[in-house]
Amino acid sequence: MDPIALAVIGGTGVYKLAQLDDVNSHVVETRYGTPSGPIRVGTLLGQRVAFLARHGEGHSLPPHKINYRANLAALQQIGATRVLALNTVGGITEQFGPRVLACPDQLIDYTWGRISTLSEEPGTEVLHVDFGHPYTPMLRSKVLAAAKVTGVRLQDGGCYGATQGPRLETNAEIARMRRDGCDLVGMTGMPEAGLARELGLDYACLAIVANWAAGCGDGDEITMAEVLANVDAASAGLPELIGELARG
Ligand code: HPA
Repeated sequence: MDPIALAVIGGTGVYKLAQLDDVNSHVVETRYGTPSGPIRVGTLLGQRVAFLARHGEGHSLPPHKINYRANLAALQQIGATRVLALNTVGGITEQFGPRVLACPDQLIDYTWGRISTLSEEPGTEVLHVDFGHPYTPMLRSKVLAAAKVTGVRLQDGGCYGATQGPRLETNAEIARMRRDGCDLVGMTGMPEAGLARELGLDYACLAIVANWAAGCGDGDEITMAEVLANVDAASAGLPELIGELARG
């Protein structure tokens, strides 16, 4: 069987990969436990691609309950070496308004209490991986190149702030994140990126801006309906981009 060219992890509003054909489902167990759901492996524009819904297919797992280790280990176990993480986010700074797609190059972790290392269990080797560039630079370049080839508008760079959730942030929390240098805010960027590095996976984030973060827009309440409608609208070009990325 062909190797898996790319694994994709879907976030809020992305529970399936459009245009993924001939799908086989894999229920995988790992030494870290059970992933969020079955891994769907199929063909996307001629490339073998794996897909996993991070929150489960019915969005049943809140961000702090996701078994990030099992998700990544399961993708690695079925042969993936490259992971594109789709993360639904709020936009903080000017270039990152609703429906923008972005490929961040930095992150700040505000999460707490999540298992954030493979070295959690007593007796396992403690890893201190380099994380200066939290997203694999080569894979980021390929994401940007795939966007160019497929004509998908993609913002190059930005800092992703990972918050605990599941509630949205206060205006003051977002104001602090802006001062810290965050452009985007989401709840699932960490510990996923750090664990991918520990596992030796190539990993990049494609952030889908669903709303203005708290206090950044017109002050209206942020609703799930708004979030899902914007994710849907912004995702139209994703199958082509992902197919092109898988090819490269
Ligand atoms: N904050 C955190 N996570 C999010 C947001 C937000 O505003 N929108 C979508 N995911």
